[in-house]
Amino acid sequence: MTAYVQSPAPGEGREPARADAVTDAVVLSLNGTWRIRLSPTAAGTGDGFADPDLDASDWDEIRVPSHWVLEDVTVPWAAEPRMSAPRRDEHGPLYTNTAFPFPIDPPHVPDENPTGDYRLVFELPAEWPAGRTLLRFQGVDSCALVHLNGERLGWSTGSRLPFEFDVTAHLRPGRNVLAVRVHRWSAGSYLEDQDMWWLPGIFRDVELLARPAGGADDHVVRADFDPLWHSGTLRVDASAPGVVRVPELGVEVPTGVDIRVGEVEPWSAETPRLYRGTLTAGDEVVQLAIGFRTVSIDGGRMLVNGAPVLLRGVNRHEHDPERGRALDVETMRRDIVMMKRANVNAVRTSHYPPHPEFVRLCDEYGLWVVEECDLETHGFIYAGWEGNPPTEPVWHEAMLDRVRRMVERDKNSPSVIVWSLANESWRGDGWRVLREWIRDRNPSRPVLYERDPSYRDSDFYSLMYPSLDALEAIGHREEPRPDDVTDDEDARRRSLPFLLAEYAHAMGNGPGSLDEYQRILESSDRFCGGFVWEWIDHGFTARTDDGTPFTMHGGDVDYRPNGGRYCLDGLLFADRTPSPGYAELAAAFAPVGITFTRGSVVLANKHDAIGLGHLAFSWRLERDGALVDSGDLAVAAVPPRSQISVPLPAFDTDDSAEWWVTVSATLATDTVWADAGHEVAFAQHRLSAPTPALAGPRRPLRTDGSGVRIGPAVFDSTSGRMLELGGIRFDGPLLDVWRAPTENDRGQGGRNDLVRVWKATGIDRMTHRIRSLSVGDDALEVRVRSSPATQPFALGSTFTWWSDGDGDELVLDLAVEFEGAWHDTPYGHHDVTLPRLGLRLGLDRAFDAVEWFGLGPGEAYVDSRTAARLGRFGSSVDELQTPYPVPQENGTRLEVRELTLRSADRSLVVTADRPFGFAARRWTAETLEQARHPHDLRDSGRIHLTLDLAHRGVGSASVGPALPERYAVSREPRTARFRFRPGP
Ligand code: GAL
Repeated sequence: MTAYVQSPAPGEGREPARADAVTDAVVLSLNGTWRIRLSPTAAGTGDGFADPDLDASDWDEIRVPSHWVLEDVTVPWAAEPRMSAPRRDEHGPLYTNTAFPFPIDPPHVPDENPTGDYRLVFELPAEWPAGRTLLRFQGVDSCALVHLNGERLGWSTGSRLPFEFDVTAHLRPGRNVLAVRVHRWSAGSYLEDQDMWWLPGIFRDVELLARPAGGADDHVVRADFDPLWHSGTLRVDASAPGVVRVPELGVEVPTGVDIRVGEVEPWSAETPRLYRGTLTAGDEVVQLAIGFRTVSIDGGRMLVNGAPVLLRGVNRHEHDPERGRALDVETMRRDIVMMKRANVNAVRTSHYPPHPEFVRLCDEYGLWVVEECDLETHGFIYAGWEGNPPTEPVWHEAMLDRVRRMVERDKNSPSVIVWSLANESWRGDGWRVLREWIRDRNPSRPVLYERDPSYRDSDFYSLMYPSLDALEAIGHREEPRPDDVTDDEDARRRSLPFLLAEYAHAMGNGPGSLDEYQRILESSDRFCGGFVWEWIDHGFTARTDDGTPFTMHGGDVDYRPNGGRYCLDGLLFADRTPSPGYAELAAAFAPVGITFTRGSVVLANKHDAIGLGHLAFSWRLERDGALVDSGDLAVAAVPPRSQISVPLPAFDTDDSAEWWVTVSATLATDTVWADAGHEVAFAQHRLSAPTPALAGPRRPLRTDGSGVRIGPAVFDSTSGRMLELGGIRFDGPLLDVWRAPTENDRGQGGRNDLVRVWKATGIDRMTHRIRSLSVGDDALEVRVRSSPATQPFALGSTFTWWSDGDGDELVLDLAVEFEGAWHDTPYGHHDVTLPRLGLRLGLDRAFDAVEWFGLGPGEAYVDSRTAARLGRFGSSVDELQTPYPVPQENGTRLEVRELTLRSADRSLVVTADRPFGFAARRWTAETLEQARHPHDLRDSGRIHLTLDLAHRGVGSASVGPALPERYAVSREPRTARFRFRPGP
């Protein structure tokens, strides 16, 4: 009875795959409240589950579409059968990255195979048309056996793909009973080992489709664009003869005929021009949304409509923090709007075809789509790739079934320009089978397959996570030869365009270097762009025992194997709040480059198809961050991929302050994805800087009973500690090098694991010893040695405190040197590089309002600061924090000239002789490090302020390459002069 569950075949009884079309044929949605009963094995509730007369009134109710592991459904065999969703045990959502959560025993799966018997009793409307009716499932994970009115229709695998049954002979007037048995694991699961949650259930729409007499079950639109003549050709084929009408183009022709349609506007992500038309076949009218565009590979470049395009892309999984992959259309639209607002122009549907509505929205809003098939066999890596389906003919039909269902479904979408065969499934002859089928069926789009180093079945050379240097070499076609490929394969690969399937791993704080990757991708026409990993964190909204909500990741589930936190690596947090990486991406992807030359600004149009006419350009002149003047810039026509120099007004500046000009490009009119005024690009340029003020003569110190008085401060004369500053009590300052490690600091699988080195050397537990203290006539000098237990190396610092002027400022001259050999003894082979270098101070919790003149408004790090602009910003201490779902270093502001901390009645102003970084928190870095979730962080009762002389970049080593050396804290001697001024 359950043999099909372990069959490598894709299914049985299903209709041929066909185009997903919007038509006037009658549809009955079967979404809604169904009944479900779970069982521990594939046998489900027994043979009678499909009996139309079965009384299922005591079964649980479940909404469809959904994943049962995210709904409140009884698990009868669990120790705790009823737990509120999402469960955090083996019966809930399970997350693995590369591992199969079952033994590698293909095509078998364990007897422990949670199975959901679903039932829906529905009324067929009295007016339901006579004739053929299909039952369509848009997505069921992982294997469904379907019965209607007690009759077995068949079964299917391929979770993220549609399947249909012809139910004409089984449908009854009035009451009908649909029974669907859904298995958590099946042979199909071997082909679905993507890095994501395992989420069983009927998670996409279920529909009954009346098929009109003579209707077009399937149709193929071929709409090419000829850039030479600006003209289109059109041909629509259909499974039944019909008439094609495109009123706007004066087209009215039979199906199956090639026609020239004269001058048309091409479809592109920048100009998503759709020509709406119809295909009338028999009694059915199918809506056509035709986009004229031609994709080709020519001279090692990818061309669309005859011109190169650069994909500024993101990898998108379908995710909702409560509903998993059961997304509603509004959420899909929201993703697209947010992508467009971040200058994203392309999406790789990692790693499966999305809901068909998403593809339709991409056609409409304008996003290039690399559509990836629902196919990944990654877990075979644990078997040394032994038995990997691409190498085993017995699996080829199932692989082909998936590709066929993807291509047939979305073949008419202009946005889809590349078919991606699969993700991370190594080599095998199976790829040739898929590729040849696509070549015969839909040759108008190139094919991508990243993971076979021979690339023989791919039209692109592609990689994941190369370093900047490696990418640069690829741009010059100078990359090293992969292992284990023939000369011919290598020569062919070298001639291919390069598409960067994944880069810039956005896990936790990061990614860094987005702007640098972009600069390289823009530097060679071998590059057709890339896709950042990834769009959104796959975290679920869960609650602690006391009801506090938090974002749950794999590691929060009591289950092995467990992919832990690797599901939280998006530019958006799971609830779609943008993380700082989102803003950084928008800046790196800006389609207008803005640079300054003397008296002018150079605007580079990075669009591939359009000018800059849709944008308005303006400038702002600021003196020390205060607006002085602003105006508009008149910009003449700038063709795509070219630039123009535009004169700026002659600004009247002086050397009394910092003068900056900001030029920004905003949408000139409303669009469907943002209103007029939305900024797509900006850049700043310093026009003049003040001549540094000379320090006045030092004022003499005064020592009295309370201590050494230096300007507004009092110091303890034996410990050298600052006791107060203008009546404000302080802890510190202490020399400080620690930050709560970021995900990227931990590297991946032992590679680039700095935290190990830091912990082994005790960098997180520095001790301090005063080497000398001298109270001079006009300065207090304290020399300190700071170093970790067990280590011979140290930081030697000299704090020289003094005051000048009218004595209302305290000045600190700080000099720091690295002493000894900074190696991680006893291992001895790693250089120890610091997370940061600066000071830490504690002050009263009332100082919880912050203003600064520096980079803002968001956090910034040396390799992730493109989105930050120089200005004056204000925030509460609480709002300075970025609530990464896994607590880690965050919230640091860079390039600060002046910092003010304020309580209701006091203030403290910090300035320095050169820009510095700061963070202010209600907890220490150590507490931040220990917290497992944001709700573990509690107000310590103090404000902890860190001031940075240097702070390591963020990078993306959690999956990507090591942080470039230039963003590390170098071990050179450093000096800084800080001024502290208490005020009202
Ligand atoms: C890639 C993979 C993605 C994801 C990423 C790391 O290798 O294709 O699905 O696992 O690494 O987060």
